[in-house]
Amino acid sequence: MRRSSGKIGIVCVTLLLVGLVTGVWAQSQNLNLAAKELVIKRGFTKEALSCIECHGKKMPGIMEGWRASRMSHAGISCYDCHVVKKSSPMASQCEGVKGTDIYISPMVSSKTCSRCHPQEVEQFLRSGHASLASAAVMDPKKVGLQKLMYQYEGSAFMDNDTLDLSTGLTPKGKAPYVRASRAGGCQMCHGTQVEMGPDNKPINETWPGGVGTRYPDGSIGTCTVCHTRHRFSVSDARKPEACGACHLGPDHPNIEIYMESKHGQNYLVQGDEWNYDSPPGAWEPGDYLAPTCATCHMSGIGDLATTHSVNDRLKWDLMHKKSVIRSGERGNGEKGEKLMRRVCANCHGKTHTDVQRKSLDNIVELYNKQWAGAVKMKADLKKKSLLKKDPWKDGFQELMYYLWHHTGRRARQGAAMNAPDYTHWHGTFQMFQVYKDMEDIYNYRIKNNKIEELSTVMSSAPY
Ligand code: HEC
Ligand code: HEC
Ligand code: HEC
Ligand code: HEC
Ligand code: HEC
Ligand code: HEC
Ligand code: HEC
Ligand code: HEC
Repeated sequence: MRRSSGKIGIVCVTLLLVGLVTGVWAQSQNLNLAAKELVIKRGFTKEALSCIECHGKKMPGIMEGWRASRMSHAGISCYDCHVVKKSSPMASQCEGVKGTDIYISPMVSSKTCSRCHPQEVEQFLRSGHASLASAAVMDPKKVGLQKLMYQYEGSAFMDNDTLDLSTGLTPKGKAPYVRASRAGGCQMCHGTQVEMGPDNKPINETWPGGVGTRYPDGSIGTCTVCHTRHRFSVSDARKPEACGACHLGPDHPNIEIYMESKHGQNYLVQGDEWNYDSPPGAWEPGDYLAPTCATCHMSGIGDLATTHSVNDRLKWDLMHKKSVIRSGERGNGEKGEKLMRRVCANCHGKTHTDVQRKSLDNIVELYNKQWAGAVKMKADLKKKSLLKKDPWKDGFQELMYYLWHHTGRRARQGAAMNAPDYTHWHGTFQMFQVYKDMEDIYNYRIKNNKIEELSTVMSSAPY
């Protein structure tokens, strides 16, 4: 809060002055906006007003969100974000602009925001939330995953259908349900390539989508996954719920981990007394007493500036099969370690933080050791042709997946974010059980030189 008292003063004077003018303006436009007192810094054009007026009647829900937003107060309207050039691959016309030379699109990517927020967009685009997020769902190089989606989750294995996995796009001529799992699941968190019909509207349920959505004009990213539309508020994005929409569940239970941590306990018992409305970059201890997800991963705190690259403050890669110190497209782990420590230093002493960082390193080492053991067993089995071709019918390979993707991630992420129950009961405890079961299967196969007939893993339920 401290850095912006000057700015707030100026804003208040402006609000008073412009508020008066706006009241008169709103009345003359018969928009019933008096209560909200829109601040018009540059005025709406006639075209912009027509969208507002008609949509106020036809889509009052969207209107109310927008009206409460800071951007509406600064004169940014539907027109600024939804009007596109006629030549845009996304250009269409709603019933209100038919017959005019105005073209609109319901799709709005980070490129639109970059006109006015270039720095946030630049940081976002180099983070794991942009192209890497949608690559996980549609990049042909990740064929294994597409197999999971189309062949297995899409039931193609029952239809005995071979699908073309070379493009990442919706396969042609296949039953629509082959993409049902991707559309309702993966894509709503990760985003995928938006496919377009002849009328420039999205098809194949590829829109709306998650954070890394790829738009037909080549742009990437949906900013509103955290800045809920149409309020686009900074205070909403500072709360852990903004992240919990995607960061949950058995494979990355970050919101559960947070709520279990001491930080989350503080949020749960006092969070409704905290202040989330400080201006951008000026949200500091005092506004809150314990950090939320945003505090540690994004917000400015102390002498650290806000970043829209969630990778910046990370040391380890805690999501992939082997945990390594981040480099390349995943960030810079050594720098990340230093930045994250600077977050903690606002509220904790070095002794306290050293313990936390060390116990994370130790859990990473413990997990990596078990993973290496599993890799070795698998290599032996492969050499002796003791693996089934279909990994999802092979108990050993199924367990190996859970070791990494569920139990191992929970242990690593629980330790990273101070949640003892996730570190232990959902994490290391289940890791060792899975590992020992894998050893039993391994020993059976080696001793008998054959694969047991039924998968010993009946479902993912225990993990
Ligand atoms: C600051 C930019 C911005 C402003 C201003 C804005 N929108 Fe949006 N709008 C978005 C974004 C971002 C999305 C999500 C698009 C996506 O996921 O590709 C969206 C989505 C939509 C959608 C499609 C989703 C749905 O629920 O059907 C409609 C319709 C829409 N906006 C109407 C409006 C109207 C009407 C206004 C003016 C009152 C408005 N928008 C103002 C950015 C904006
Ligand atoms: C006279 C009323 C009217 C006016 C003026 C109007 N709209 Fe619409 N608009 C609608 C209605 C009704 C719908 C919902 C039906 C549809 O999708 O065509 C709609 C739909 C939309 C959608 C969603 C389209 C989709 O495919 O889901 C967007 C975005 C939109 N309008 C933006 C605008 C913008 C921007 C303007 C101003 C340039 C504008 N509208 C002017 C009535 C209007
Ligand atoms: C035409 C310029 C323009 C465009 C396009 C634009 N913005 Fe803004 N935005 C602004 C201005 C101006 C403000 C500052 C308002 C203020 O300080 O009161 C702002 C403020 C914000 C804020 C801070 C709100 C708060 O609570 O303090 C967020 C978040 C934001 N914009 C997100 C977006 C997103 C997301 C998009 C794209 C979907 C977008 N903006 C597109 C001009 C724009
Ligand atoms: C719409 C869903 C969604 C929301 C909301 C969301 N994330 Fe993510 N996040 C993802 C996905 C998907 C990935 C995995 C990206 C990939 O495949 O590399 C991810 C990855 C991350 C990563 C790791 C990045 C990397 O490259 O390793 C961090 C850290 C992160 N998110 C933090 C946050 C925080 C903090 C918030 C809230 C302020 C948040 N996320 C909100 C979907 C989301
Ligand atoms: C509830 C939201 C959600 C759903 C549904 C979801 N994911 Fe993710 N996914 C995430 C988040 C969040 C991460 C980041 C996890 C982390 O940091 O540990 C992630 C990580 C990943 C990763 C590792 C990062 C990378 O890019 O290599 C892959 C691959 C992946 N998801 C693929 C998928 C696929 C394929 C599906 C559907 C079959 C799917 N996800 C469904 C949210 C989701
Ligand atoms: C993962 C969640 C998340 C996503 C995605 C996200 N933001 Fe933010 N954004 C935040 C948080 C949290 C803050 C508040 C930082 C603080 O505490 O001051 C913020 C602040 C802002 C602000 C206020 C100025 C500033 O930089 O602090 C703007 C403008 C903004 N975001 C625009 C965008 C745009 C444009 C995009 C899309 C490229 C975007 N945001 C995507 C979480 C997100
Ligand atoms: C006290 C600070 C703090 C809070 C609060 C916090 N995190 Fe973290 N987070 C960390 C640290 C530290 C790591 C591990 C960083 C490293 O590698 O050194 C981490 C790791 C992660 C990762 C793993 C990235 C990977 O490698 O797979 C994700 C995703 C993530 N956090 C999301 C969230 C979400 C979502 C929330 C809120 C629900 C949250 N975090 C709350 C500090 C925090
Ligand atoms: C905004 C201040 C703030 C920040 C930043 C912060 N913490 Fe905390 N932390 C707290 C508070 C408050 C508690 C709860 C103390 C209590 O209620 O017992 C706490 C408790 C903890 C605990 C529980 C153990 C104990 O002392 O009872 C751990 C572990 C922890 N923090 C680690 C971290 C790490 C690691 C970071 C940086 C990645 C961090 N914290 C950042 C305020 C903060």
